[in-house]
Amino acid sequence: MAYPDSWLNELLSKNDIVTVVSSYIELKPKGRRLWGLCPVHGEKTASFSVSPERQLYYCFGCHIGGSVIQFIMDVEHLTFPEAVEFLANRAGIAMPEEANDAAMQRERARRERLAEACKLAARFYMETLLGDEGASGRAYLKKRGITSESVKRFGIGYAPSGWESLKNYLTEKGFSPEELVEAGLLVKNEQSGRTYDAYRGRVIFPIVAANGRVVGFGARVLNNEDKPKYINTGDTLLYNKRNNLYGLNLQKSGKLPDLVMVEGYTDVIGLCEAGVTNAVASLGTALTQQQARLLKRYVSTVYIAYDGDAAGQNATIRGLDILSAEGLIVRVIVFPNEQDPDEFVRQNGKDAFDRLKENALSLNAFKLEAMARSYALEREDERERYAAEACRFIASLSPLEQERYYQQLSFKTGYSLETLKAQGESARPMRQPQPAGPRREWARKAQTRAAPREDERSRAESALLFHMMQSRDAAALVSKEGLEQQFLDEGFRKFAEGLAQAYARGETPNVPLLIAGLDKAGAERVSAAVRDEAACEEPEKAVRDCLCRIEQCDLAQQIEAMKKRLTEPAVSPEQRAELLREMQNLNLRMRGLR
Ligand code: UTP
Ligand code: MN
Repeated sequence: MAYPDSWLNELLSKNDIVTVVSSYIELKPKGRRLWGLCPVHGEKTASFSVSPERQLYYCFGCHIGGSVIQFIMDVEHLTFPEAVEFLANRAGIAMPEEANDAAMQRERARRERLAEACKLAARFYMETLLGDEGASGRAYLKKRGITSESVKRFGIGYAPSGWESLKNYLTEKGFSPEELVEAGLLVKNEQSGRTYDAYRGRVIFPIVAANGRVVGFGARVLNNEDKPKYINTGDTLLYNKRNNLYGLNLQKSGKLPDLVMVEGYTDVIGLCEAGVTNAVASLGTALTQQQARLLKRYVSTVYIAYDGDAAGQNATIRGLDILSAEGLIVRVIVFPNEQDPDEFVRQNGKDAFDRLKENALSLNAFKLEAMARSYALEREDERERYAAEACRFIASLSPLEQERYYQQLSFKTGYSLETLKAQGESARPMRQPQPAGPRREWARKAQTRAAPREDERSRAESALLFHMMQSRDAAALVSKEGLEQQFLDEGFRKFAEGLAQAYARGETPNVPLLIAGLDKAGAERVSAAVRDEAACEEPEKAVRDCLCRIEQCDLAQQIEAMKKRLTEPAVSPEQRAELLREMQNLNLRMRGLR
């Protein structure tokens, strides 16, 4: 489904969005946009808008948006490739495999080149680890208890601390700096145009695709103070973290009973050393549908074993839904004391891990557990509210499951089985009431989606995207701070990376092309974020302001989490003191930002 950029670009330029949309609805100019009645959600006042300048649409009523490709997906109910074909037919251009074989071949050749560079880089890092320059890397691995078998098995390496070590090595082998930047091995300084090694003085974990090719790298600092802890390859022609799972290349397809899904490189390695060889990592990001599908090629049961901290547990809930939506059986392994799998298994060994795995929670049990955690169950009123919410959930399950969970709930809350069942019965969702008025009107309304939830952080992320799109300098400022950190939203991040890459190549970003490359939901969110038309006088100042807001949000969230911990009965006086100290630090940093 990867179309060459040049071809997609032709497709977009021969399908002007105003012309295409105008064949569905009437558009009238107002300001810098054209407006009409949304063809998707049906309405009486115009909230559907098209920006001819940006070649994007956005509906302020039902929050859909994107390039002309997403528009066709929306109105014609097509998948992305179907919409692409539809537009190709409309404009009378041949599909790329028919006409533009050469372009596809060029792209393939390019990919081969990058793969070769990554392979040589991995080898270079491995050799460096074993040589004179690798002493500190070896010491670090030793300290963590990572064995030399693991080093071999996972191809672990070390990036020397010089600025041009890998660059010199690979340019001598005939690679151009541009290629190496494209492979994510070098970075280019915006101002000076100089290129230098992307990873320096770090331990290297190569990421190997299922077909055995090195496609990217994770690079860890040797201490716990320097930030970021890990630097990872961004999206390249070869590697997209949404489509890969770390460690999957070491799994044999076919006869695995199950896979264990963890967050990080070191979790996979630690588990493997303990004898749990079937772990793979999502690498700290939210699980994606593509990853779920990848897992499904190997197994039908997946154990989620995310870190025991709050972030890990929240990620678990999201992961559960994504995996079960793809039809996988999911169970959750919960680690005590906020440990992660690596720490747990190093401390307690494989048997203890296997016991946790035997006792793993089912999807619904975990959801009930997570629900319980948000109530202070030692208080009667909270217990009652928890019971009410849990009953509503249990009532939606199968009769057998209901039996089991009502019993557990009774045990936990002290209410009798009869009471809980009666409560569940009364809370059972009513059957959908028949719509008043003509049915079509009602059905149309149902399509109108609620506005995407916007918290302060995502508003700041939106604003950042807008400024990055407006100004190269603003974009450079954000890139310097690290796109990974600033954008929690995957779609935003991908778009921001696209902008940064275009600037790095010295081009003006092709916004519709970048948006065309996002999935539907991502395209909608990005179109919403960049719909603002008023250019800003001082983009760099605005960017600093956004970065500051983002940091404040993150700090506030950490402070909240700590406050919550303070209320937990299990917290010892020493832990309390420690928490209060940390909280004070965070508060100080927060004040510094104001
Ligand atoms: P963790 O912070 O749990 O790290 O992040 P870890 O895997 O336990 O690593 P160690 O044991 O401290 O070395 C989980 C994963 O999130 C990603 C990495 O993929 C990491 O393995 N991550 C984390 C980053 O990409 N960047 C970071 O700065 C931190
Ligand atoms: Mn971890």
